[in-house]
Amino acid sequence: MKNIIITGGAGFIGSHVVRLFVNKYPDYRIINLDKLTYAGNLANLKDIENCPNYRFVKMDICDFDGVLRLMQEEHVDGVIHLAAESHVDRSIKDPFTFAQTNVMGTLSMLQAAKLYWESLPEHFEGKRFYHISTDEVYGALQMTHPDGIEPPFTTRASSGEHHMAYGEKFFTEDLKYQPHSPYSASKAGSDHFVRAFHDTYGMPTIVTNCSNNYGPYQFPEKLIPLFINNIRHRKPLPVYGRGENVRDWLYVEDHARAIDLIFHEGRVAETYNIGGFNEWKNIDIIKVLIKTVDRLLGRPEGADLDLITYVTDRAGHDLRYAIDSSKLQRELGWEPSLQFEEGIGKTVRWYLDNQEWMDQITSGEYEKYYDSMYSNR
Ligand code: NAD
Ligand code: DAU
Repeated sequence: MKNIIITGGAGFIGSHVVRLFVNKYPDYRIINLDKLTYAGNLANLKDIENCPNYRFVKMDICDFDGVLRLMQEEHVDGVIHLAAESHVDRSIKDPFTFAQTNVMGTLSMLQAAKLYWESLPEHFEGKRFYHISTDEVYGALQMTHPDGIEPPFTTRASSGEHHMAYGEKFFTEDLKYQPHSPYSASKAGSDHFVRAFHDTYGMPTIVTNCSNNYGPYQFPEKLIPLFINNIRHRKPLPVYGRGENVRDWLYVEDHARAIDLIFHEGRVAETYNIGGFNEWKNIDIIKVLIKTVDRLLGRPEGADLDLITYVTDRAGHDLRYAIDSSKLQRELGWEPSLQFEEGIGKTVRWYLDNQEWMDQITSGEYEKYYDSMYSNR
């Protein structure tokens, strides 16, 4: 693989994937195709923007003709597709944009890759279309134990290994899709199209479904960067419902490492779940954030606990996500490299040290959008 399009490379996860590939593979040509929506930010890639093996192209994935031309011009061998609308709350307000970008945009990428690769003598040989999806397509898990034991408790993943969890079940690759939000429904639709292109045309596709990512460069509408910034500025922390929902958190660079491994060594037509068996209740993670920010800013411990403000719950709020990544560990030997305590410490420090990055986003237009979006708080 020499010429690779990474879509959504100016976003949170995409920027980490682009950075990893540009630095690790100097003989690859990395083309970052991104529309630069509100979530795309070229400041995320300042450190690599002048590298000779890197090119940025501002383009909408829905622009089928443009994408096809780019593939022909760059002799593209591989696609790593991350571009998407990614925020559940926005999908509740504006589902059309999610269907357009996530479903039609993915279809446009697939069809362009298919037409271009079918025009080559080698056809699909040595080609790969890798689609990045989410654990949210599986729906929501319960927080139950067969013997009525209160969570968290120790339970077994499909590998037989024991993990601390908030319920007895995990998301495995064979589960049926049960998306609840317009966001997860649109990601489910895109996953189905990717598999259909393999099954119908023989296109060499791979799909991965990952749990919640955290780390540097995440847009501050998402829980962790939003709350770090609010704690810093002593603004209220809007906790949905009772803060009891459980998410499974993975450091973003570990996700990028998994994408690298799967892109090169994953089996075609397979699905891999990516996650680090790291479940947290929202309210507990929020307390860790308060403690860490207060410590790093030299404030008395717990000084900002009173910022916690319980607000109206998210509509259709999924109770629990928990990924079983045994298949990926077993087949390709991937494991997360960072313990959560270390990852969250690094993350908080990064946001506090990069206030300028944050200010550029949170001032001006975004602030107005945020206030109108969350006017019910
Ligand atoms: P993000 O919102 O931070 O970035 C999305 C990027 O896609 C932005 O750069 C944006 O400009 C670009 N984009 C959006 N619409 C586009 C279009 N029509 N054409 C071209 N570019 C467009 O998203 P993220 O959190 O980095 O997520 C990346 C991918 O990973 C998504 O597909 C998401 O579903 C998936 N994912 C995210 C998480 C997570 O925790 N953030 C977890 C699992 C899977
Ligand atoms: O599971 C993977 C998914 O994780 C990705 O596919 C999505 O792109 C990504 O946005 C993320 O979705 P979530 O909805 O889980 O992430 P978010 O950061 O929006 O919310 C995390 C939890 O925190 C969730 O239970 C809702 C809650 N929350 C969120 C916000 C923004 C709050 O209580 N208050 C808030 O203000």
